[in-house]
Amino acid sequence: MLIAGNWKMHCAAPPKARELAGGVAEVASEPGVQVAVCPPFTGLSAAAEALDGSPVHLGAQNMHAESEGAFTGEVPAGALRALDCRYVILGHSERRQYYGETDEAVAEKAEKALASELVPIVCVGESLSEREAGRAQEVVGRQVETALGGLSLGDPSRLVVAYEPIWAIGTGESAAPEQAQEMHAFVRETLEGQHGEAVGGAVQLLYGGSMKPHNAEALLSQPDLDGGLIGSASLEAGSFAEIVAVAEEVAA
Ligand code: PGA
Repeated sequence: MLIAGNWKMHCAAPPKARELAGGVAEVASEPGVQVAVCPPFTGLSAAAEALDGSPVHLGAQNMHAESEGAFTGEVPAGALRALDCRYVILGHSERRQYYGETDEAVAEKAEKALASELVPIVCVGESLSEREAGRAQEVVGRQVETALGGLSLGDPSRLVVAYEPIWAIGTGESAAPEQAQEMHAFVRETLEGQHGEAVGGAVQLLYGGSMKPHNAEALLSQPDLDGGLIGSASLEAGSFAEIVAVAEEVAA
């Protein structure tokens, strides 16, 4: 199980990042459940300091596919590694929606992340209109095919996929556990087709979209859910810790 906090553009200033990461460092425990926090770039150093000596991992929310160059405003994978990041979120729906990130771009970034020894958390998910049109699997299938089909993946622990239905993100209404399970099983099947049963079957699949302490158990108990990507409930160490505690119970 992996519980990862996506802070988005919150706690971006170093003192805030230090405070929240410090709170998470105190409550989180292993084994059975891995825990990660993903602050904005400007909070990574301070969060890394606060997490020093704790089992909580650090992740970033984006990266560029090139190692360096004339790409104003961008950050390369190597720098994230140097800041102690283990994970990098790629292709979050907010990046796709507001910054035009495509599956092809996500594919390039995922390849670079792997080569840089970062574990990409690749996000996929359909919009409400796509779901209502009965196209959820078609959309997510295409995202998984294009973003991940070309990766050469020998070790399943090098990749994480997050299914995040756009209609559930930040709305307070998560997918129903059965809906999430159905999509996770589909993503799992697609990954097995791409990378073989042993590898595809063992990639951690996170659910994201309004996962909270009160609905975490029903979601995390589904057979193909291996954790959560948590947005707003990760901005408070207490509620994030509650979700981690639920994951520990489910994993036990
Ligand atoms: P949410 O965000 O938990 O606030 O819905 C999840 C995400 O966007 O990763």
